[in-house]
Amino acid sequence: MSNFIDLDRRDLLTGSAAGLAALAFRSNTAFASAKPDPSFPKDFVWGSATAAYQVEGAFDADGKGPSVWDVFSKKRGAIFDGNTGNVACDHYHRYAEDIALMKRLGVNSYRFSVAWTRILPNGIGTVNEKGLDFYKRLLDGLLAAGIAPACTLFHWDYPQALFEKGGWQNRDSANWFAEYTQVVAKALGDRIKVWITQNEPQVYLGLGHLDGAHAPGLKLKFGDYLTCVHNSLRAHAKSVQALRATQPGSQVGYVMASQIRLPATETQADIDAAGKAIFFVRDRNSWNNAWFLDPVLLGRYPEDGLKAYHGDMPKFPASDLDEMKQPIDFLGLNIYTGGRWQQGSNGQPEMLPEPPGYPRSGVDWQPLRPEALYWGPRFHYERYKLPIFITENGLSTRDQVFLDGKVHDPQRIDYMHRVLLNIKRCINEGIPVKGYYAWSLMDNFEWADGYKQRFGLIYVDYPTGKRIPKDSFDWYRQVIASKGKILSRPTKMPVNHLVP
Ligand code: FCB
Repeated sequence: MSNFIDLDRRDLLTGSAAGLAALAFRSNTAFASAKPDPSFPKDFVWGSATAAYQVEGAFDADGKGPSVWDVFSKKRGAIFDGNTGNVACDHYHRYAEDIALMKRLGVNSYRFSVAWTRILPNGIGTVNEKGLDFYKRLLDGLLAAGIAPACTLFHWDYPQALFEKGGWQNRDSANWFAEYTQVVAKALGDRIKVWITQNEPQVYLGLGHLDGAHAPGLKLKFGDYLTCVHNSLRAHAKSVQALRATQPGSQVGYVMASQIRLPATETQADIDAAGKAIFFVRDRNSWNNAWFLDPVLLGRYPEDGLKAYHGDMPKFPASDLDEMKQPIDFLGLNIYTGGRWQQGSNGQPEMLPEPPGYPRSGVDWQPLRPEALYWGPRFHYERYKLPIFITENGLSTRDQVFLDGKVHDPQRIDYMHRVLLNIKRCINEGIPVKGYYAWSLMDNFEWADGYKQRFGLIYVDYPTGKRIPKDSFDWYRQVIASKGKILSRPTKMPVNHLVP
């Protein structure tokens, strides 16, 4: 099966958007006669996303305390080319310009994160009003532009002072996060109705506490890593409780670095194999879904993980599991890629290797697999029965300013087009995907890769801070303006821009 277009012909008969679109990519004639209903629901959330450390800069402005990323990014060899987030996109000072760009883009929501140490420089205790003022200005600007804020409380920039008290290894860390949540919710809750407790625990715990590739750069023993996970799950739940108490009526969600396993073919056997594999927990790393979702949504650790991690499991009071399970309103899935699985000859799920020459983005971890945006939400909805937001999706491309002064990024347009058609397929089939946040609004500090990766719809010239909307910005603007209708047409790529 080739990567993008060999969908089952049943798609044509059932009218699934992905199938029809796939055929459209193969043949315009087939598409013209198929006529799917192309529009997205009226209340669909069209968004773009960023995170504080990646865009704000102003790393020590106005009383901000250091985070583990401030410290880690200055360690020799930790980040590509020695880059840091000291200045980044300088969004802290240029936020008004960025809001104006979002307004032009037409997004109706902006997912951003709060830098914990702008608000509480030591993580707990004294509140820094100037830090809160920045977010008040940002939020007022967004609301005036008609853009609904979706606030992530924690997107990896953990307070250095709390790290020095043991960080996630310390059982008190759950209370520290609840305290921070309460301060933010009290101060900003009149302006924010959508909250996300944490972004991608798999990554800040796995890469930050097990592999040492991200801040704070720890390589803990597996049992100690499991303690960190346990406390972060408790912290999420206490944060939900704090939000419910402080801001009743708001929408609260939790965001995963979703590890998508999808069927190699759309036979029932392969669908079942992928549907099982996507919730497997058996490897001694953090790259799974169920270890992070089952406790907070089902109130238990998954059985297979308990077996695999036997001997390393931390001891904890049984009441922790009850406390962890706090009802939330939506599940946020960050989906960038997926692996193909099939039913093996022994009847068990098995993973297929990528074929030679598969399509990929600028980061090595991202084979381009837009169907993951259909199968991921579908399998998660079947297991957890929660409305879903795609809280991040996008790709890194090696963008540059062309001779005509523009930034042409046809690969991004093509990938997002395929992704949105897969999301439409979910919607057509009754899987409640409620919104899509493009990662990212603008190029930014991509963690250990520094400024090497460009994920933005807007190009950032870092030496000057100048923003240049890419072709994909204009394309996404048209998608939003048409409520997705233009997705039913194959996109004409701007490849002739230099031809007189
Ligand atoms: C996700 C992160 C986000 C960004 C994208 C590319 O894992 O949440 O901050 O780095 O990857």
